[in-house]
Amino acid sequence: MEGSILITGGTGYIGSHTSLKLLNAGYEIIILDNLSNSCLEVKDRIKKLANKGFQFINGDIRNTNQLKSIFKDKKINAVIHFAGLKAVADSAIYPLEYYENNVVGSLNLFKEMASANIKSLVFSSSATVYGNPGMPICKENTPLNPVNVYGKTKLIIEDILRNIKKADPEWRIINLRYFNPVGAHPSGMIGEDPKGTPNNLMPLISQIAIGRRKKLLVFGDNYNTPDGTGRRDYIHIEDVANAHVASLEKILKGDVLHMDINLGTGKPYSVLEVIKTFESVSLKKIPYEITKRRAGDLAEYYADPSLAKNILNWKAKFDLRKMCLDSWNWQSKNPSGFIN
Ligand code: NAD
Ligand code: WQD
Repeated sequence: MEGSILITGGTGYIGSHTSLKLLNAGYEIIILDNLSNSCLEVKDRIKKLANKGFQFINGDIRNTNQLKSIFKDKKINAVIHFAGLKAVADSAIYPLEYYENNVVGSLNLFKEMASANIKSLVFSSSATVYGNPGMPICKENTPLNPVNVYGKTKLIIEDILRNIKKADPEWRIINLRYFNPVGAHPSGMIGEDPKGTPNNLMPLISQIAIGRRKKLLVFGDNYNTPDGTGRRDYIHIEDVANAHVASLEKILKGDVLHMDINLGTGKPYSVLEVIKTFESVSLKKIPYEITKRRAGDLAEYYADPSLAKNILNWKAKFDLRKMCLDSWNWQSKNPSGFIN
């Protein structure tokens, strides 16, 4: 196929793993990333792993002129849109930045795509759009009611896409709602490397195991779950990346016109189960202390992943052990994460 796939946020955690899969699948890619939450070194690691080059543009989806010139100068067949800010707690402190970066940035991107007649898109949404669904299992038609600013930005973008599609049926859009992506590429050359203090469980545990942090605070052990700690639908990053390749294929073929799809395993694990499994694969002790619940947390939620199976013919392959093993492999080979 002549032309490239534009990947916004492609040096980030999910973007880097997906970019590698796309290169391996034979696609030409162009990554656009402002490096606000990733490192330039990621680009070289992807190239090395893929044994294939690609273009990297240090740029911003909020920069309309830059987007215009990219769409004018390059032949782009589709966009996978990862770029965005994703820290739930920060989104309450910096709402303007979150709405501007996520909503305004996405709006710019969609406008310039429409002007350039590029109407194929895979968008990174989040299970956070379900908010507090009232029951643990989330289907795609579960009512959407995000309870934090970050989640609201994702819902607004989803709504914009629904409106675009209604007004112009030529668009082909897959909106992926990820549950809890964890793990790393099995080479240990790319992985999750949060800047500053991690917000999420797996990078915190990995950094404790490598000695960068002392102990984990477990947010509550009195939930209505088998061991009292919160349960989540963790999904291996390699499974998430594969689902993007499958989604892209569907929209390029025109098989899927507009669809919201959950990406999860459908099997939740508790905080204590994650700690125990990580300890068993790393042979490291993870000291932890039970503390009070974190505001906004739910006892448990997980995906009904059946639509992804039906539409994308995709199913998560990897279990919690493999997620922990690859997280630890990445962290132990890169104790300080990416250097540059
Ligand atoms: P990440 O922060 O690692 O990657 C996002 C990338 O986008 C970063 O490289 C960052 O530098 C870039 N970026 C941010 N704002 C930009 C802008 N204005 N212009 C250009 N580049 C910009 O995050 P991730 O975990 O890879 O997440 C990717 C997407 O998936 C995000 O949209 C996130 O909201 C969504 N998501 C992530 C998770 C998760 O748990 N990791 C879960 C659900 C949804
Ligand atoms: C997992 C479990 C915590 C840290 C978030 C976003 C969601 C999505 C994925 C982007 C929970 C417990 C955590 C700690 C703990 N991101 N925990 N101690 O909250 O399920 O989802 O990331 O879209 O939108 O909300 O993930 O990794 O923060 O927490 O006990 O120090 O670990 O209470 O049960 P969460 P998480």
